[in-house]
Amino acid sequence: MDQNHIVTIDGPVGSGKSTIGRLLAKKLELVYLDTGAMYRVVALEAKNREIVPEDEESLGKLCREVKISFKHDPEGQRVFSGENDVSGEIRTPEISMLASKISALGAVRKELVHLQQQAGQNGRIVVDGRDAGTVIFPRALFKFFLDAGVEIRARRRYKELVEKNMKVDYTDIFQDIQKRDENDRSRSLSPLKPAPDAVIVDTSEMTIEEVVGRLSLEIDQKAASLP
Ligand code: DC
Repeated sequence: MDQNHIVTIDGPVGSGKSTIGRLLAKKLELVYLDTGAMYRVVALEAKNREIVPEDEESLGKLCREVKISFKHDPEGQRVFSGENDVSGEIRTPEISMLASKISALGAVRKELVHLQQQAGQNGRIVVDGRDAGTVIFPRALFKFFLDAGVEIRARRRYKELVEKNMKVDYTDIFQDIQKRDENDRSRSLSPLKPAPDAVIVDTSEMTIEEVVGRLSLEIDQKAASLP
């Protein structure tokens, strides 16, 4: 596997991973893979098929059945489950919480990590998630961990959902983020944590452009120092 051009971006909810990942991929002309969207599609399909989060076996089977794909769009990226555009449906608070729950299951992680590794097997990709630098691509050369204070992340997520015309309450979002942070960090399988060789960037006081600039600079500097 050529991992020379794999960039991993991990971090908690609202740290800016997906926006930054998408922009960075565009700037560096790499493919962008949003691994969180994959957990969300499985969560949505589980809900539609009435599979409960406790039924690990059926969820593992579901991961093998769903056909997740992405299409690039000037507005961002569209996410498909089979033929259906589920880009909006996977972002509701209910699916966010369900995705967080099912992502703790070994059968689900095993299937999705396999698909993610296949997607990146030729390198030239930016992968964002929780375990991109620790589990999916542990040998990636360029690893980042984005972080920000919980209030800042809740405000960002609130603004993002309001801009998508969703009816949301700030306090609910703040509590959801705290709960999801706790789930993501405390689970026994692939908990959210920086890879030992990741560059940690606190984005609390930074604009999107500043973060993209910082990451590209780190990549350029590291690439220049390679033998
Ligand atoms: O990044 P996101 O909020 O769209 O991710 C949705 C959920 O999926 C999140 O609560 C944790 C889980 N997830 C994961 O466990 N591993 C990943 N690589 C990406 C997301």
